[in-house]
Amino acid sequence: MARAAHLQAETRPNTLRQVAGAEGALDRSARNVIISDPHGLAAESIHALRGRVQSQHIQAGRRGLAICGPTPEVGCSFVAVNLAAALAQVGVKTLLVDGDLRAPSIYTYFEPEMTGAGLYECLVTPGEPILEFIHEAVFPNLDVMTAGQPARTAHELLAGDGFPELVNMFMRDYDMVIIDTPPTNSCADGLRISSVVGFSLIVARKHRTLVSDLKVLTDHLSKEHAVAIGTVLNSY
Ligand SMILES: Nc1ncnc2c1ncn2[C@@H]1O[C@H](COP(=O)(O)OP(=O)(O)OP(=O)(O)O)[C@@H](O)[C@H]1O
Ligand SMILES: [Mg+2]
Repeated sequence: MARAAHLQAETRPNTLRQVAGAEGALDRSARNVIISDPHGLAAESIHALRGRVQSQHIQAGRRGLAICGPTPEVGCSFVAVNLAAALAQVGVKTLLVDGDLRAPSIYTYFEPEMTGAGLYECLVTPGEPILEFIHEAVFPNLDVMTAGQPARTAHELLAGDGFPELVNMFMRDYDMVIIDTPPTNSCADGLRISSVVGFSLIVARKHRTLVSDLKVLTDHLSKEHAVAIGTVLNSY
């Protein structure tokens, strides 16, 4: 506990990391900039973020991170996909999970688009082997669990005991588990995921995100005992 508080304090002065927008129109899979444009500005920003996550999160023995935004379209899914790919690139065995069970998008970031069962099906059929629901070795060191079928009952599913059990299993099997979440101020799923994982990275969008919305999110996270390890400013 003392250690976590120390690291958090250490992180605070520099937590606002700016993620540059990728230039020009990007087709769907090209938004995976770590792969499609590894030397571009956006990829460089993600590399810098990866360095911070490695040195201040993974090296402290933490294995999970929920990616949270206060409102829609701040870039959570973009950051989740690209951070996961960037970590995998340097040998961190990573699982990327689409925790946005209501409006999934992670499956669109890969070419060809990922289809089939994912987190939803994994939660509703607890006896099945987990590997049935995972796309293995999408890139070296990167496995992906999509959301599967969109679910209106997302909150009930995430609130059950099956979800933390699953996350604990993931954290035993992978060096890092990155979970994308839906906009947190309008839907409780992101808070539940952050609270189960224990740590979250907040994404804000330049010229769009209100400080008041960020304040609501950080207050909610602290009530859920989820440590916000930092905030990314997405300048897209
Ligand atoms: N830095 C960036 N460079 C290029 N494209 C970006 C960047 N940030 C976000 N985008 C694109 O902007 C759109 C919205 O971003 P994204 O889906 O990641 O936001 P979100 O917060 O996950 O939204 P939602 O609330 O719908 O889940 C997507 O098409 C995404 O690929
Ligand atoms: Mg999203």
